[in-house]
Amino acid sequence: MSRLAVVGAGSMGAQIAQQAALRGMDVKLHDQTDEQLRKAVESNRGHLNRRVEKGRLTARDAEAAAARVHTTTDLAEAVDRADLVIEAVFEDLGVKREIFAELDRLAPAAAVLASNSSTMAISKIADATRRPHACVNMHFFFPVLVMDLVEVVRGPETSDETVDRAMAMARAMGRTPVLINKEIDGFIVNRILHAATQEAYRLLDAGVARFEDIDTAVEKGLNWPMGPFRLGDFSGLDITYRARLHMFETTGDERYRPSPQLEAKVRAGKMGRKTGEGWYRYPKTDN
Ligand SMILES: NC(=O)c1ccc[n+]([C@@H]2O[C@H](COP(=O)([O-])OP(=O)(O)OC[C@H]3O[C@@H](n4cnc5c(N)ncnc54)[C@H](O)[C@@H]3O)[C@@H](O)[C@H]2O)c1
Repeated sequence: MSRLAVVGAGSMGAQIAQQAALRGMDVKLHDQTDEQLRKAVESNRGHLNRRVEKGRLTARDAEAAAARVHTTTDLAEAVDRADLVIEAVFEDLGVKREIFAELDRLAPAAAVLASNSSTMAISKIADATRRPHACVNMHFFFPVLVMDLVEVVRGPETSDETVDRAMAMARAMGRTPVLINKEIDGFIVNRILHAATQEAYRLLDAGVARFEDIDTAVEKGLNWPMGPFRLGDFSGLDITYRARLHMFETTGDERYRPSPQLEAKVRAGKMGRKTGEGWYRYPKTDN
């Protein structure tokens, strides 16, 4: 199985396609406009060129990998011969359901339809198709060209064969898949990250340690590349805050209540790197 189509050429889709092409696959990459496809190709070119400059890829292999990504604004042309389609469009349930209904109509009857959604379980999308058994989550991590993991999450109707094909595709792309047998908010990685981050905020709010020392403890003691506060600054404290607020409001569980100190940062407009200050300060040249 090697014919892959990727729908949505944003931050994730562009690199998912490029990663597969680096592993020798011919990939169709679809988005709504030529402009978006051009940006995706340009961004991938930049990544490939940097690898060539660092001596990690030959210019010839970079050229071949770039040429194996075939772009099109025509969805039918993108998927009509695909064995597996990965959807990576906006995180909007309505849009994803529309796309899956279209994919069901346009892709071969035997094709697997996968969603890269971080938060939407496949069962919320699969019933827009006549093949829920062939639908699955394949959750890649940003940046896909660097991050090795793919969480494959099966829905209640996903068949064993679909799971096997998704796992095999992830491996063929040079990525390490893990299988999640139950649909669960946050899958594995974001759940564990969330739990660790909440604990870090609890320690901070209780005055147990300064945020710098909690980061240092996690970085040096657990060997995580970034402690929770540094990582929050990197991804945006507004995003960290909203994720917690969402969990708290939907579950009513006190464990998820956002930290008052996190809330204060967000109210003060200190969102992290993107605003020049969060837990740490980022001089302009550093942004
Ligand atoms: N960014 C991340 O860190 C990350 C990590 C893991 C998973 N995800 C998931 O990946 C998906 C995409 O995220 P992203 O960050 O790449 O978003 P993005 O906004 O960068 O890209 C989305 C792309 O989808 C395209 N699109 C929208 N509607 C479309 C349609 N009807 N047909 C074709 N293309 C359409 C847009 O033009 C855009 O290029 C989301 O489901 C998100 O949850 C994101």
